Amino acid sequence: MSSKIKDILMWDESLLRNPEVFDLNYLPEVFKFRDNEMEAISHNVKPLIKGDFPTNTIVLGPTGTGKTTSVKLLMQDIKEVSNNVVPVYINCQFHYREFSVMSQIFKAVFGYPPVETGKPLTTIYDYVMGELQKKNKTLLVALDDVDFLFHVNVAENVLYKILRAHEIYAGVITGVIGIITDNSFTYKVSEKIRTVFMPNEVYFKPYSLESTKDILRYRCDAGLFPGVMDEEVLNKISEITFERGDLRLGIKGIKESAMLAEIQGRRKILAEDVEKVIERITTSLHVESISGGLSKTDKEVLKVLAEHSLKMTKTNDFYHFLEDKMSYELFRRVLIKLENLKIVDIQRAQSRGRGKQNLIHLRVPKESILKIIQE
Ligand SMILES: Nc1ncnc2c1ncn2[C@@H]1O[C@H](COP(=O)(O)OP(=O)(O)OP(=O)(O)O)[C@@H](O)[C@H]1O
Ligand SMILES: [Mg+2]
Repeated sequence: MSSKIKDILMWDESLLRNPEVFDLNYLPEVFKFRDNEMEAISHNVKPLIKGDFPTNTIVLGPTGTGKTTSVKLLMQDIKEVSNNVVPVYINCQFHYREFSVMSQIFKAVFGYPPVETGKPLTTIYDYVMGELQKKNKTLLVALDDVDFLFHVNVAENVLYKILRAHEIYAGVITGVIGIITDNSFTYKVSEKIRTVFMPNEVYFKPYSLESTKDILRYRCDAGLFPGVMDEEVLNKISEITFERGDLRLGIKGIKESAMLAEIQGRRKILAEDVEKVIERITTSLHVESISGGLSKTDKEVLKVLAEHSLKMTKTNDFYHFLEDKMSYELFRRVLIKLENLKIVDIQRAQSRGRGKQNLIHLRVPKESILKIIQE
């Protein structure tokens, strides 16, 4: 039998050896190029291990530069080296109400979520801080995408509760790492917070072309079968990723290109596979990254916006399709959330009066919205 025929007969595997390597929240085993930044954050949080007050940190930088991954890895390391610290990672895109943030902290401290009997926020807070006091443990809260808390005016209260806990619960020691993606965002805190929150800023620079390629090569080695990705195709996808400045594009691009090659019965990814998938991913990536944080109500609103955005822009016209399902106030709140998530633009009416109302524009293709709603 010729080796080509043998190849075909033997080949019943996908080109993807470990598809999970390309999941966007996969924590890579090899994480390079961020040693300085991770060291800086480690120095800031280290006092917590000995029961001293840490330096609070704000992690800043463009999208896809490894901020979330660095902080998550650091939290893992803390767990390994110390039993004294309770590290909590909270994604504020999903948890942007005080109660929800505090419930996440409760879960980390006790190991189970607070019982759903409508306990007020103060009770949960009291349990959390009381337990830390009793067990002599310190608390480290990482607030990822903390700008969301500022957008909905919750940041002050959350920071106050976490960082001034020691004033009520003697001996309780807490610290915060905030992560901010949007570089145009500047956080402002009032005087009462500033006394306890003067964060040290750690900036994550974009990766160079070389580093981008190195990171993507590692993913190929870990996730694809040998020989599937040739050097020149890797160069191409690395260049596109570098130009667009988001590693996620490259990581997802490799997976989707491999799937495309596979459908066509090839064992190698071609440059044209990359070209074909990259545009599609660029438009859907942002929507997919936030889809986990959308509630059923958010999706109902998004569906109406996506289905009718070509025909209308006025807020009330969209609401017309939803008035049986939700109050106007809820609809308005969802729109603000979608605006903060950069899914819609709200063009606010300059003045009030007949026919003067806000206009809504989708910032992403409606197809990518309809796709995540179906999933
Ligand atoms: N140095 C690195 N080595 C390997 N993978 C990396 C590295 N930096 C980032 N990644 C990968 O790139 C993707 C994006 O990283 P991450 O989510 O940490 O970025 P981010 O800075 O938090 O982005 P955003 O601001 O959009 O939230 C992840 O899949 C992550 O595994
Ligand atoms: Mg992130």
